[in-house]
Amino acid sequence: MSNINFDPKKVAHYEDISRKAVFGYDQLFTMVLSLLVENQNETTNVLVVGCGTGMELTTFGKHMQNWQLTGVDPSQEMIRIAKANINDHGLNNRVTLYNGFVDSLPEEEKYDAATLIFVLRFIADDRKKLSLFKDIAKRLRTGAKLVLVDQYGDPSSEYFQEMFKAWGYFMKHSGVPSELAINIAAQATDKSLFTESGIIELLSEAGFTKATRFYNSFMHGGWVVQKI
Ligand SMILES: C[S@@+](CC[C@H](N)C(=O)[O-])C[C@H]1O[C@@H](n2cnc3c(N)ncnc32)[C@H](O)[C@@H]1O
Repeated sequence: MSNINFDPKKVAHYEDISRKAVFGYDQLFTMVLSLLVENQNETTNVLVVGCGTGMELTTFGKHMQNWQLTGVDPSQEMIRIAKANINDHGLNNRVTLYNGFVDSLPEEEKYDAATLIFVLRFIADDRKKLSLFKDIAKRLRTGAKLVLVDQYGDPSSEYFQEMFKAWGYFMKHSGVPSELAINIAAQATDKSLFTESGIIELLSEAGFTKATRFYNSFMHGGWVVQKI
């Protein structure tokens, strides 16, 4: 068993707050699965890294009857909620959950696709980001896609400052309590932020190519890459 700590009260509200703080939060998961579908009727093994409360697992499982899903997350509390959500959606027979980090998964099992959604901001250090990308790459078949979504940007740029300000107003008008919005925004400018060129370089070092940005809202970006 592994654990990184999350306040259980905050975890329970996580999805609600995310819906208000991230433009298109629910649809984003449908967008991600649409990017990963290769053949609608084929069995596809998908690895969901940092599965949290199970948003990817339940969305993918509901729409894609032939997908087998594996969720991994180091937080016991997140895994506990994900388990309950998967149960509620009747997806127990197609979802496997691991409480731990990607490097604890066997390397023999090769996945057809992977996702890493809103996880990188918990990993400040570039070497640790690279080592996570490498751990994922080792578990993917050649040609498999990885989808990555997170906050990004260069806080010293004018563009970032403009987007950051607008995002603050967006959260306010979407109903995020102001104190919480300040906390969320403060976290977003900490040192875990990456630039687009920086993250593409790390992904390429880890064995991924063909980076394409498919989503952008304020300071959130989404990319799809392919394992070489
Ligand atoms: C903000 S939540 C996102 C959950 C889900 N992907 C979503 O978008 O709803 C981030 C998750 O990443 C997990 N996490 C943090 N560090 C991680 C790591 N090194 N490897 C895998 N998951 C990690 C956390 O435990 C947390 O559940």
